[in-house]
Amino acid sequence: MLAMPNAYISGTGMYVPPRRVTNDDLAKDFGIDTTSEWIVQRTGIEERRYADDGVGTSDLAVHAARDAIEKAGIKKTDLDMIIFATLSPEHCFPGSGVYLQQKLGLCEGNDAKFVPALDIRNQCSGFLYGLGTATSMVKSGACKHVLLVGAEVHSHALDLSSRGRTVGSLFGDAAGAVIVSATDEDRGVRSWHLGADGRYADVLAQRIWDIRRFPFIPQDDKGVGQIQPEMMWAQMEGKLVFRNAIERMMTVLMEACVKNGITGQDIDLFVFHQANLRINQYLQQHLGIPDEKVVHNIQRFGNTTAATIPTLLAESEANGKLKRGMKVAMVAFGSGFTWGCAIVDW
Ligand code: UT7
Repeated sequence: MLAMPNAYISGTGMYVPPRRVTNDDLAKDFGIDTTSEWIVQRTGIEERRYADDGVGTSDLAVHAARDAIEKAGIKKTDLDMIIFATLSPEHCFPGSGVYLQQKLGLCEGNDAKFVPALDIRNQCSGFLYGLGTATSMVKSGACKHVLLVGAEVHSHALDLSSRGRTVGSLFGDAAGAVIVSATDEDRGVRSWHLGADGRYADVLAQRIWDIRRFPFIPQDDKGVGQIQPEMMWAQMEGKLVFRNAIERMMTVLMEACVKNGITGQDIDLFVFHQANLRINQYLQQHLGIPDEKVVHNIQRFGNTTAATIPTLLAESEANGKLKRGMKVAMVAFGSGFTWGCAIVDW
């Protein structure tokens, strides 16, 4: 029997839209009753990027995907699958994966390749759910190269008013991508650990429609859909999310270390989901992780949900913080609740 290949990350890429929105801009341009001091103190966020009107999630993703494909040294037609993690797909259906496939130009010409396109709906843990899936696809021999993207256009679906300030000030738009490839070398994704606790499904949610109801969005007498603000915008019990994030991220990281027979000291780089700098600082402090082993981009991009980890990987590779041979821990937590950790020998 042939040995199973290893799955490693052969290329990383990222893209953020050019429009910068600082905390002061939220107060000045949007009239939100907030201060930069409040946002920085509670979250570490200084600014975020917003996509222009007319730009969708797959538009951001295509830049990140092209970047990752180039870095991996492959052609787009070498891809065997697309996995697209997002909570802000263009539409209810179809998912953003097929739009990305089209925009990558995989559906045209003599070398068109109609690869499967899978959307992952696991919010802030979406990238790690995708990494687990891509790794399994590669290790099983089904795929040699999987394009895994985490991308979000949050800004178009945020209540950018004082009413929505708690959630509205946190999120930004971005796309990150990796290529997960087969290799016979002794490297790559060593293990992945995923979890969920559906008891908290409503604690962080955006329930634009309710499919239990007929019609699923209430209509006025002219047949025009009517969505109340509490249905239209994401709702979050921030403190409960904060506490659970710390507990679950800590536990899943420990679980991963035990599984790999390592301790935190064996890990060279910690790539934590970027929901709140304070969450990650708490983890860092309690686990005794030195500053040089942690990377952040929440200060510049805000919480970009499925895009936080792949954008950090791309940035860290580009600036030399992430090098071949390093042991990397990626940890995430988010709506669902869902969480995950992956240990990767780079
Ligand atoms: O990636 C998805 C997972 N999400 C997270 O992990 C988020 C986890 N939660 C958090 O990071 C924190 O709960 C937040 C940063 C979101 C909020 O911090 P908090 O300390 O829990 O604040 P709070 O929601 O309890 O609000 C405290 C006060 C409230 O005012 P009152 O009622 O005390 O008068 C809020 O209205 O702060 C007010 N507030 C703001 N003030 C200025 C909330 N947002 C803002 C704001 N600017 N942007």
